[in-house]
Amino acid sequence: MRYDADGAAHQRFVAAARSFWRGPLFRELYREAQSAPEAMPSLVTYQYFAWLERHLQRMKYSGPRGLVASAQRQRDALLAQVAEPLPPHLLSLDPSLEAPGYWAEHDSHQQPGGLDDDLGAFVYREAVGGGVVGTPGLHERFATRVVADRRVERVLDLGCGFGRSTVAFAHAAGNARVEGVDLSASCVTLAAHEAPEAMRERLAFRQADAVASGAPDAAYDVVTSTMLLHEMPEPAVRALIAESARVLRPGGIVAHLDFVPPSDPVLRVLFEGHARRNNEPFLLEHSRIDLARAYADAGFRRVDVVPFDEEDDALAAPPRAWRLPWHMIVAEKGTSAPDHPRREPVPQRAARRVVR
Ligand SMILES: C[S@@+](CC[C@H](N)C(=O)[O-])C[C@H]1O[C@@H](n2cnc3c(N)ncnc32)[C@H](O)[C@@H]1O
Repeated sequence: MRYDADGAAHQRFVAAARSFWRGPLFRELYREAQSAPEAMPSLVTYQYFAWLERHLQRMKYSGPRGLVASAQRQRDALLAQVAEPLPPHLLSLDPSLEAPGYWAEHDSHQQPGGLDDDLGAFVYREAVGGGVVGTPGLHERFATRVVADRRVERVLDLGCGFGRSTVAFAHAAGNARVEGVDLSASCVTLAAHEAPEAMRERLAFRQADAVASGAPDAAYDVVTSTMLLHEMPEPAVRALIAESARVLRPGGIVAHLDFVPPSDPVLRVLFEGHARRNNEPFLLEHSRIDLARAYADAGFRRVDVVPFDEEDDALAAPPRAWRLPWHMIVAEKGTSAPDHPRREPVPQRAARRVVR
């Protein structure tokens, strides 16, 4: 995305202020809160931390110099980047798709309009660059650990966004075919247009709901997601687990990269506050799901939930910077998994709740 001089200065200011917020300010707050974590919200340092978290994110996206306005000013140029015809296998859109209400009605991460907007993927891509979910190499590190020395010929990436997670699996898994599925037409369109030339034959992006992916039965070695589960209400997560059981071959694995609440009491208060301040409507609901039990009930075995270091020393104590509590959630489909597991109904589209 291109900015005028004011827009560029605004985004540089936000980025610098966020570095201060998640580095030195966080370290000071962590030190002050040690003696009484439950009293942390009354600390001035906490209030300053919380205000910056909420408002720097808002400043990044909203207002005349925010990412949304910048994208709208260059609408034609951005849409021209995704206008060229593609090989038919690479992109499949479904204009009749009924998006679930939990996705359409919230401005998650405070992105006005969310990803249900034709410029949504451009805005989201710009927003995550360098942010707490944009750590360089994060997706590749996860994909490499999941693939390890497994035989992987076919991968399904649920909630693929603009393709970062999908392409990381295509890199990690040699010649595997990797398919990305997302509700957002904007995201799958950008992902398909930016698919690396050398991988285009074995990548495919499709607009679909992850819980009814349209993928064939028992066809995949790996079903994966990155930062999807915490964006879904519990019935949808359970439906996703059932869908994963349906599309995986016996012995195939499901591997999610997502967030599990920290046990450190100070970090836990900050994590719970983050859910509210960053507009993460289902993050706390997700934290309460017993995923190990849910996977076992769906016929999976060897369920493993392990902390994930998105960069070297990320798990060091005391923490050097505020970070999301990344975890890998991995489970293997047993041979006794039901062929067509029951799916709970998931609420459909409702009016968008806008945050400015
Ligand atoms: C935080 S983004 C992560 C995108 C990508 N996996 C990455 O790591 O960059 C979550 C994505 O999940 C998608 N999503 C949320 N609910 C979904 C659903 N039910 N089916 C398909 N995609 C969904 C959103 O549209 C969004 O693109």
